Amino acid sequence: MVLPVEKATTLFPDYIAEAIQLCEKLPLSEVKVNKIVVLGMGGSAIGADILAAVAEKVASVPVLVIRNEEIPNYVDENTFVIAVSYSGNTQETLTALKSAAARKPKQIVAISTGGLLENLSALEKFPLIKVPDGLAPRAALPYSLVPLFLTLQKTVHFPDMHDALTESIHVLKTLRDELISDKRIAQGLHGKIPIIYASTPFFMPAARRWKCQFNENAKQLAYFESLPEADHNEIVGYTKKLPLHQNMAVVILNDSTSSEITQRRLIFFKNAIIKCGCPVYEAQSKGENLLTKLLSLCYTGDLVSLHLAELNGVDPTPVQIIDTLKQEFQKQDSSLRSPAPTGRGPE
Ligand code: F6R
Repeated sequence: MVLPVEKATTLFPDYIAEAIQLCEKLPLSEVKVNKIVVLGMGGSAIGADILAAVAEKVASVPVLVIRNEEIPNYVDENTFVIAVSYSGNTQETLTALKSAAARKPKQIVAISTGGLLENLSALEKFPLIKVPDGLAPRAALPYSLVPLFLTLQKTVHFPDMHDALTESIHVLKTLRDELISDKRIAQGLHGKIPIIYASTPFFMPAARRWKCQFNENAKQLAYFESLPEADHNEIVGYTKKLPLHQNMAVVILNDSTSSEITQRRLIFFKNAIIKCGCPVYEAQSKGENLLTKLLSLCYTGDLVSLHLAELNGVDPTPVQIIDTLKQEFQKQDSSLRSPAPTGRGPE
């Protein structure tokens, strides 16, 4: 039994605080690498997207997020590999991790509640950060996000994010109180296909989170894109008013502290959409640092997705079709049950 997503969502800020506690004494030491590769799917990969966006601003090595069973050629002995799977049983993540382990990376860490990933960590002797179970993976975002940041702080001199996390907890608690009964955005989106635009590429993880939460919680389609890229293609879709615009609604994830050029670009883009008769809603990021901004936007989307679920008359928690699909593939891929030796395990 998993905790209903509605309940888990109200506890999100508390989970951040609990995850910080959980990571206080991580038994990890410094390593020198030239890239960080995070393996994960769905709700378990969003924390890595947030990490990658923040890393672009503050880290000296890139964070690359791999949502696939195949790993890139650049995974090598100078790579830090982190596998994130809440269940520990996701086929793509396990397969990718086995291939990555065979490349003898400098360090592997796993973040999970257990499952086959825990077995693999015991066999291959890499650390597992074990997080509390009983949640839907997407509702456990703080338990992937916080261990990711704190692991890298301990190992690769990633900047200390404690202040940013404390700010995030505070901002999210305020948002929870403000938005828990404010259903205006969801009412505007109801019955339409939402398109979420990140006003800057740094907000892409939040735009993806909105899309995924609309998919999984509200059980409906949604899509996302980012500016300035959308100005070079998607904007052309808003040059002539078409009947299909009646079935769409747009949400812009905005940063009130962004540069003048970003704001001007956004106004131009928004006006084109409005001329086509599409309703446009805006969510403003909150907080000072990028991590808080991203988490505030993600959390706003989480709450809107729950309101939308209610309007759609669906239970936000179960994602039966994903479970059925995973069972199908686990039946087929018996190798998942017996991890292949990669050379790092016991003699
Ligand atoms: C379910 C959810 C999914 C899972 C994904 C990967 O709540 O969010 O997107 O996260 O199917 O599963 P895990 O996270 O167990 O590796």
